[in-house]
Amino acid sequence: MKRVLIATGGGDCPGLNAVIRAIVKRASQEENWEVLGSIQGFNGILWEPQEVIRLDEKTVAGIHYRGGTILETTNKGGPFNWPFRLPDGTWTTADRSDEMIRRLSYMSVDAVINIGGDGSQRYSQQLFEKGLNIVGVPKTIDNDLSCTDVTFGFQTAVEVVTEAIDKLVTTAQSHNRVFITEVMGRNAGWIALHSAIAGGADICLIPEIPYDIKQVKKAIEQRFVFDRGFCIIVIAEGAKPQGGDVVGTVSDEIGYRDLRLHGASARLSDELKQIGCHHEVRETILGHLQRGGIPIAYDRVLASQYGVKAFELVKEGKFGQMVAYHHPNVVSVPLAEAIATPNFVTMDSDVLETARGLGICFGD
Ligand code: F6P
Repeated sequence: MKRVLIATGGGDCPGLNAVIRAIVKRASQEENWEVLGSIQGFNGILWEPQEVIRLDEKTVAGIHYRGGTILETTNKGGPFNWPFRLPDGTWTTADRSDEMIRRLSYMSVDAVINIGGDGSQRYSQQLFEKGLNIVGVPKTIDNDLSCTDVTFGFQTAVEVVTEAIDKLVTTAQSHNRVFITEVMGRNAGWIALHSAIAGGADICLIPEIPYDIKQVKKAIEQRFVFDRGFCIIVIAEGAKPQGGDVVGTVSDEIGYRDLRLHGASARLSDELKQIGCHHEVRETILGHLQRGGIPIAYDRVLASQYGVKAFELVKEGKFGQMVAYHHPNVVSVPLAEAIATPNFVTMDSDVLETARGLGICFGD
């Protein structure tokens, strides 16, 4: 009997369960493959007692439309940064990656499929370099992983934001107000950009293009005639003014290394007041609504394609690879290439050109 283990790491994302189900369904067509799942990324393998479960067709029945992940996830710790407390009470981290590989070998695990974003796929590459048979599946609502046209979960997030904008438009119009919608996108503005186009926004502020507040004010004024009118602004959580920085707070959660970004919309609102924008401004932060809930059909299909392909790679022994979508095919790319450079909105990006062609202001 051969064994493949699945782990879901990093922030959750609509479509994770559809990938898990697809791997299990594909593996069950083989006579000699068993599928295991580690709870909360790789933590389940390292915990004492271990938390690793057997996944069969019964376990995954009907989970393709459920958000989140039945295996749970975490964006803290991991085999290379295992947090533990020193005798003096302070926290530090340890590299337990070699121990984890040994444990997998004792468990007779032949291969691992790691479903995760940028950080998780860096772990995949490091583990591959240490000799682990591993395949990556790209997950992130931010769509910031390279070498694939799209990550699953992204389109669902865009759908959530677009629906929100559609609702905000009617209240903005009725009250002659400016509405700022803050969306996820730590370093990449893809969610903001796509939903600004889909929702017909007037202004879109993204991490890749630091904004000039005067340009933003000017674009707002163009939407009002004698105080009548409305304006819709989409701002990514990682957007910043020219010469400024992102807004957020340092997390006190053990093992959480990122800055928790929030408040870009409130800061923009203050900046607008300071330079004399006299219209009523309201802010809406969509936050984790973009990550929760059911995946749209597009993401269910993509996630299923990724799951089946990931198992094929395992079966063929093609390790150190990440499944990817190169329209119209699902292919595999070396993990090393996928993590080399992040996928950010570039100034020659076609979608950015479309947005500019629609007259959307980026504050530059
Ligand atoms: O990586 C995806 C993402 O959605 C980022 O846009 C966001 O900053 C982050 O996750 C928030 O993650 P969490 O709230 O789980 O720490």
